[in-house]
Amino acid sequence: MAQTPVKVTVTGAAGQIGYALLFRIASGQLLGADVPVTLSLLEIPQAVKAAEGTAMELDDCAFPLLRGIEVTDDPNTAFNGVNVALLVGARPRSKGMERGDLLQANGGIFGPQGKAINDNAADDVRVLVVGNPANTNALIAQQNAPDVPAERFTAMTRLDHNRALSQLAAKLQVPVAEIKKMTIWGNHSATQYPDLFHAEVGGKVAAELVDETWLRDTFIPTVAKRGAAIIEARGASSAASAANAAIDHVFDWVNGTDWTSAAIPSDGSYGVPEGLISSFPVASRGGRWEIVQGLEIDAFSREKIDATVAELEEERSAVRELGLI
Ligand code: NAD
Ligand code: LMR
Repeated sequence: MAQTPVKVTVTGAAGQIGYALLFRIASGQLLGADVPVTLSLLEIPQAVKAAEGTAMELDDCAFPLLRGIEVTDDPNTAFNGVNVALLVGARPRSKGMERGDLLQANGGIFGPQGKAINDNAADDVRVLVVGNPANTNALIAQQNAPDVPAERFTAMTRLDHNRALSQLAAKLQVPVAEIKKMTIWGNHSATQYPDLFHAEVGGKVAAELVDETWLRDTFIPTVAKRGAAIIEARGASSAASAANAAIDHVFDWVNGTDWTSAAIPSDGSYGVPEGLISSFPVASRGGRWEIVQGLEIDAFSREKIDATVAELEEERSAVRELGLI
């Protein structure tokens, strides 16, 4: 019997990440080489024409797995029956914009999109928020979707995870694949904590293979500020690497993994207040993320985790005060 296509919705489809993402989804890299998909491209009215152009290009690739494309500016249409929702479109911070203004503007996007997911999505919907501030945007969407299991709302720290792998591999002159158990904790922001005390290279603890000064003064800030460094170099935020990380996140969520990093709703593990969408070491089994349990957290890591979690708590308080959740 022919397999029913999986509906994947991408918001901000005409943007940079959208352009780097859509072709990879349609070629089978998001879900697997034997899984047919339909794509829904959600944009704001001014960008619908550009998204239609991308849809024409998708047609022109004649991807065997791509069974349909819709382009719309209506969230209820875009999320109707959606199985995988990639929330990429967001309001960037503009000059002179205060943090509260940014959260308010994004609340105006992620609140209604959460509601549209609540009202229209398939029962098995999985949501990945990429648009910044990703963790708190995911919280806003989740809180506006009370009928969807809370655990289905996640935010992306996989790009940070991949950056950490790459920086450590370069330092130790080892292939990326030799590094296991890398973890990003907390927020997708400059406060995030890339943790080498649980990462392993050839069975040895990564933190013991590098000197402390490099770990503290080079590795952590390089990973945490990489997004800003890319913007400085490219004049635009990371796009292909962000799309690649979104593919990794969803592929592992659906197909399983023993260890990666993802921002998922906290169950209180490792002292992270329940409900915050915070990055953890996670495994995926049976299509569900699970926080890796039982790790010893030393004083250095505790301080770093507490700092990034405090920032998430501040963001949660701010969106509460704005009435967005
Ligand atoms: P972009 O400006 O090129 O594209 C954003 C697109 O979103 C635009 O086409 C815009 O029209 C659309 N959009 C805006 N509001 C929308 C709405 N309400 N519904 C649907 N579409 C809407 O930006 P980009 O480079 O593609 O980046 C997108 C977001 O991803 C940004 O917030 C960026 O900061 C973030 N980002 C996150 C990570 C991460 O690791 N989590 C990495 C890189 C970028
Ligand atoms: C990144 O990590 O590359 C982005 O989140 C940076 C940004 O602010 O868009």
